[in-house]
Amino acid sequence: MKALILSGGAGTRLRPITHTSAKQLIPVANKPILFYGIEAIKEAGIRDVGIVVGDTYQEISKAVGEGKKWNIKITYIKQEAPLGLAHAVKISRNFLQDEPFVMYLGDNIIKQGIKSLVEEFQEKSSHSQILLAHVENPGQFGVAELKEDKVVRLVEKPKQPKTDLALVGVYMFDHHIFEAVENIKPSWRNELEITDAIQYLIDKNYLVHSHIINGWWKDTGKPEDLLEANRIMLSDLEVAVDGEIDGNSRISGKVRIEKGAQIVDSVIRGPVAIARGCKIVSSYIGPFTSIYYRTSIEESEVEHSIIMDECKISGLKARIEDSLIGKSVVISKSTLKPKAYRFMLGDSSQVGTI
Ligand code: DAU
Repeated sequence: MKALILSGGAGTRLRPITHTSAKQLIPVANKPILFYGIEAIKEAGIRDVGIVVGDTYQEISKAVGEGKKWNIKITYIKQEAPLGLAHAVKISRNFLQDEPFVMYLGDNIIKQGIKSLVEEFQEKSSHSQILLAHVENPGQFGVAELKEDKVVRLVEKPKQPKTDLALVGVYMFDHHIFEAVENIKPSWRNELEITDAIQYLIDKNYLVHSHIINGWWKDTGKPEDLLEANRIMLSDLEVAVDGEIDGNSRISGKVRIEKGAQIVDSVIRGPVAIARGCKIVSSYIGPFTSIYYRTSIEESEVEHSIIMDECKISGLKARIEDSLIGKSVVISKSTLKPKAYRFMLGDSSQVGTI
């Protein structure tokens, strides 16, 4: 069995962060989203992994490498444009050959992993296995209609969803999927939809098995999804305080502070993850906050937020909450006159002031 991770695409709903970076590399609980998928695949016993990449190929290959970190083999497959999930399958034929495979969308996190689901697919020897989950906003997903437990219809992002059963971004296929992707036409959004390819399998009476998952799952497409994923993953944090904590600081709750991070005269109330090279001085870091490599925070308060690498935050009068802050962002109190907000914000930035 092989695995295909889809890590191309544009990430429009996460701009401005995705103007410059791959959405699959945004850290959740201080680990890139994509690594959760790789770990789930490895845990399922799969060693041969293809990653479909687009414009952010350089960045992704730099972060992931050849797979040595996980003792797996990674092959990169270049997609010239995000022409759809089924298009990604089509261009991966050489890599996949005729082996069954699991296709994992690189922006999805499934907390329970996929080991038992892959085993179920292998035992049932169906042509495809799809995962479904009850959601509150089915119109934002592929939606399944069932008849006596059998999937009869799949519709991509329907305006009027007939059920609340969304397609989760993990699919299992055997080689019949290639016949399907060759026979479907691009959708209204000009993508070759995997939903249509699976519908083709159903219509041709190939065996498509569905499994409703009850555990926590997230498609991290929007900022609020990332904050929720961060909250869930931080709740399971393994406590480890390896950084330097001075005598004036107080640490409580589940906290991971990596080696080389410094906490001075501050209060850290977990669950919180602070990565290598960070410096927190005279500050409060509250529950559900992740702070990535080499960020410094001084005389400020942060809670329920993701702050990425090499940021500098200092002297803020009000607490930062519910925020997603990209790489190398500087937020500081200005002493310039006249007193004013002075911004340098990229396209599609969002600022909420008090
Ligand atoms: O997350 C589950 C949903 O994922 C399903 O319910 C939908 O049926 C399915 O179409 C998909 O919808 P999204 O609109 O969320 O897909 P998105 O464009 O975000 O792409 C998912 C991943 O695949 C993401 O990591 C980018 C990558 N991708 C996407 C496209 C369109 C590629 O690698 N190549 C592509 O051409």
